[in-house]
Amino acid sequence: MDTLPPLRPSRTGMGAALRQDSALKHATGEAQFLDDLPEPPGLLHAALALSPVAHGTLAPLDLAAARAVAGVVAAFGPEDVPGRNDISPSGRVAEVLFATGTVEHWGQPLALVVATTRDAALAGAAALRPQIAPLPALLSVEAALEARALLMPPQVIARGDCEAALAAAPRRIRGEFRCGGQEHFYLEGQIALAVPGEDGDIALHSSTQHPTEVQHIAARVVGCDHNRITVQCRRMGGGFGGKESNASWVAAAAALAARLTGRPVKLRLSRKADMAATGKRHPFLYRWQAGTDAEGRILALDATLAAEGGHSLDLSGGVIFRAVTHALNAYDVPAVRITGLACKTNTVSNTAFRGFGGPQGALLMEDVLFGAARATGRAVDALRELNFAGGPNGADTPYGQALEGELIRRVWAEARQGAEWERRRAEADAFNASHPTLRKGLGGFALAFGISFGIMAMNQAGALVHVYTDGSIRLNHGGTEMGQGLFIKIAQVVAEVFGVEVERIRITATSTAEVPNTSPTAASTGSDLNGWAAHQAASAIRGRMAGVAAALWNVEAAEVQFAEGRVTAGNHAMEFGELAHQCWAQRVSLSATGFYKTPDIHWDPVAMRGQPFFYFSYGAALAEVLVDTLTGEHRVTRADLVQDCGRSLNPAIDRGQIEGAFVQGLGWLTCEELWWDQAGRLRTLGPSTYKIPGSREMPPVFNLRLLENAPARANTIFRSKAVGEPPLLLATCVWNALRDATGAARLDLPATPERVLAALRGG
Ligand code: MTE
Ligand code: MOS
Repeated sequence: MDTLPPLRPSRTGMGAALRQDSALKHATGEAQFLDDLPEPPGLLHAALALSPVAHGTLAPLDLAAARAVAGVVAAFGPEDVPGRNDISPSGRVAEVLFATGTVEHWGQPLALVVATTRDAALAGAAALRPQIAPLPALLSVEAALEARALLMPPQVIARGDCEAALAAAPRRIRGEFRCGGQEHFYLEGQIALAVPGEDGDIALHSSTQHPTEVQHIAARVVGCDHNRITVQCRRMGGGFGGKESNASWVAAAAALAARLTGRPVKLRLSRKADMAATGKRHPFLYRWQAGTDAEGRILALDATLAAEGGHSLDLSGGVIFRAVTHALNAYDVPAVRITGLACKTNTVSNTAFRGFGGPQGALLMEDVLFGAARATGRAVDALRELNFAGGPNGADTPYGQALEGELIRRVWAEARQGAEWERRRAEADAFNASHPTLRKGLGGFALAFGISFGIMAMNQAGALVHVYTDGSIRLNHGGTEMGQGLFIKIAQVVAEVFGVEVERIRITATSTAEVPNTSPTAASTGSDLNGWAAHQAASAIRGRMAGVAAALWNVEAAEVQFAEGRVTAGNHAMEFGELAHQCWAQRVSLSATGFYKTPDIHWDPVAMRGQPFFYFSYGAALAEVLVDTLTGEHRVTRADLVQDCGRSLNPAIDRGQIEGAFVQGLGWLTCEELWWDQAGRLRTLGPSTYKIPGSREMPPVFNLRLLENAPARANTIFRSKAVGEPPLLLATCVWNALRDATGAARLDLPATPERVLAALRGG
């Protein structure tokens, strides 16, 4: 680790604050999303029939009623699947595309209807009358815990003798609370277009974070080799984790219909169907007990984090892994046992959502710190500093990887200083003493977020770069663009390697035909992994080009420089394009693949120990809220954020990610509430009942800073750090500010006005 000054912004390379590659096209409407593609002749539209019951025995579905609707061309159920009726992303246990025998949740897909128009397809699906004999349904984490319904064995991270340490601790405290789920609410819903070709080939356009998994699952359902299916995605209108696994079954359904009808098929879910049938963030129930000393240092912690997994495994294993590895967040507790449970419920199968269980994990210590603050009469922020990792017990996480305790303290101190925390605490106290109905609250939060996929094999990436004889460059890699700015960042990496302006690089759609066997764009690893893969590819070509120039000029290849669109060595100089043409003339290849795998990471899933993360990304945030004690409504009046991005590849993109993530976290913790009725039907199925943050929820004072002179490992891509998910967790400071304002011992999430009002009334 060392400290370097920030890079000077330049048009050609790293550290330049360039806008997202399609920002202007997004604004003008010229950017093509999947539904904007010209429709192929003979296109059929598809619609899903969904279960109206949460749990029951399903009689074989009679599809005749759908086929009788005018315009309907065909209808398909589980018996029509030529391959396997299995869309499991993990492959551990089968998860059905269409329900057979039993239905497991309200909104579960039963059949697919295809028609000449979308309206006819929807009418066909609506005409079906599934016969379902209801069974008792597990509709909450509590019910699942009581029934011991788990989707997989518990994941336990433990260190020391927790029982003995609890028994010996001067003070014992305990707590219970819950957090809600979250709908992704991407602007572009789930959509896929399957176009059949020769010999059973299928060109599959999918709004997906994971083209390779779409390819695999479509091939599994259709019953063909992977090489028959080519998946392409130019951009998504948002993914947020919701298109990591759920895009695969939507695309597989379209591919199935294309195979069986021989015609192109488009499946675009309505917002309602999307919210009913696709997974969300996992709600969690927490139960913990802790022991502290008289000062408030946490000596022992035994906690159970029970997640509502929904009816099938999906990605719950990975989500629980991240929750348990992030349950101590930036803090150190010497004796600890964290138990993570994936509960099976008769609800839609929960999935990846920005932070992937990390945000839920990190809530635990906040509750514990508040409990310790109450027990000792000390301020919660003082206990934060007392319990940061890197204190007397060292900085090791209970699974064996070290945090950077000094950096945690530095980021926290900078955030406090920037926010003038001491002065504003005094102001808030004075305000609260004088105002009859309004109450100010202040809350802080510090973060350590591990970067890498929990499944070690997924930490790899590929790229494909071509240089053409005019010196223009075509870039392709395994990452997908969902608005997060990955494509411009990787283009900047390639521009830097070739010493050319970024405009010279043509960014192209992600395709399984160009880069195979890729990982999802997820876990915030997109630029780390694909950046290095593209760097490798570009460097290979640059090396060959340098060789050609060196031979021409009779110099050493090492003397050849690439900068500002030119290639030079001593007094020799040539335009980049001219050298590209020279290479062609000398029959030197101008195309290369690149490959990267993250070094130095390992994990033992049995012992639950290892170094699973390439590095940690740190942040700190402070929020001020104003609560109306008569209604429970609140406003975030100010937020101050510091996020460690290493040496930012692109500060404009990173700032956008930090702002967006914080506001998305704010939504999860305050206003976004998923509400199921007693029959297990989700009743919040659109923007009229499900409230995402809008412009009025933005804090009027919103200060954010990238950590300056941030130290980063020498072997991250240009010493940058990932940014996609970590800042979502920073919104936790708003929860803490609300707890400060209400003084409540327990404040469940989302902290809606009802809950805040109940907290103010003491229950
Ligand atoms: N930003 C935008 N605008 N849209 C998105 O869908 N997804 C987030 C984050 N930022 C998302 C986003 C999630 S869940 C992840 S994992 C990362 O972007 C993935 O991209 P990256 O690895 O390139 O950061
Ligand atoms: Mo992000 S939840 O890892 O797609």
